[in-house]
Amino acid sequence: MSFMSIKDLYVNIDDKEILNGVNLDVDKGEVHAIMGLNGSGKSTLANVLLGHPRYSVIKGDIKVNDESILKLKTDERAKKGLFLGFQYPTEVSGVGYSHFLRNAYNLLTKSLAEEQKNREVFITVREFHEYLKKNLDNVGLDPSFLSRYLNEGFSGGEKKRSEVMQMLVLRPNLAILDEPDSGLDIDAVKAVAEAINKLIETGAGVIVITHYARILRFLAKLDKIHVMSKGRIIKTAGRELAEELEVKGYSWLGLTDT
Ligand SMILES: Nc1ncnc2c1ncn2[C@@H]1O[C@H](COP(=O)(O)OP(=O)(O)OP(=O)(O)O)[C@@H](O)[C@H]1O
Ligand SMILES: [Mg+2]
Repeated sequence: MSFMSIKDLYVNIDDKEILNGVNLDVDKGEVHAIMGLNGSGKSTLANVLLGHPRYSVIKGDIKVNDESILKLKTDERAKKGLFLGFQYPTEVSGVGYSHFLRNAYNLLTKSLAEEQKNREVFITVREFHEYLKKNLDNVGLDPSFLSRYLNEGFSGGEKKRSEVMQMLVLRPNLAILDEPDSGLDIDAVKAVAEAINKLIETGAGVIVITHYARILRFLAKLDKIHVMSKGRIIKTAGRELAEELEVKGYSWLGLTDT
């Protein structure tokens, strides 16, 4: 039994069928990539895993530790150790960065401490700040970000670094990262990949959604690459598939975006 198991998942938005029959198992310690043409349903899958209210699950199931999470709200799914890094992170004005992370960390610790034996406990604000600073440093962000509002005025690249920084801080069991590399300069891609590698070291599972082989080359571990098309996974292979797609595109798989 894998940590997360998606079985025959059908998802609609406003009666429009977006996912039709997704099957995917991801265990802790495994790293999966999802690739595919624009509009194939990758972000839909990511959002539905965290329970975005816009999407209706029509059929199938999503299980975590062998229990269906379909009825759980987003925060309850987070307490099971799921984390979503957004394709387009939103700016949340008025919410202080470090305050937000400390609250989230402590809430998650209540539910995850039993499963994550070596999860650190921070008693004082100061201790937590040291932990945040270490993680900011891990992704190449300046400590001054801690006194800013969440994502407000962050550049595109800073937002992406910030997403994986939050991931490292919160320590999920399974992180789903929706295009953590889009719009990034080469150094930033490396920094994001290193952050993912750090999470892998904790034994977490990771799903990376991406259009490019580049970020995948930097990953210490990559078990499977899945190709999505028209709302389902149509091919699964090893890390060599990313290189093949980079050279040949998707047409040889019988896929076009028209
Ligand atoms: N809120 C919405 N209303 C209507 N259609 C939507 C909505 N959200 C997604 N879709 C449609 O669902 C399909 C899948 O979109 P999704 O964002 O999951 O694709 P994607 O694979 O992430 O694409 P990209 O690589 O461009 O990010 C698209 O045709 C999109 O237009
Ligand atoms: Mg997308």
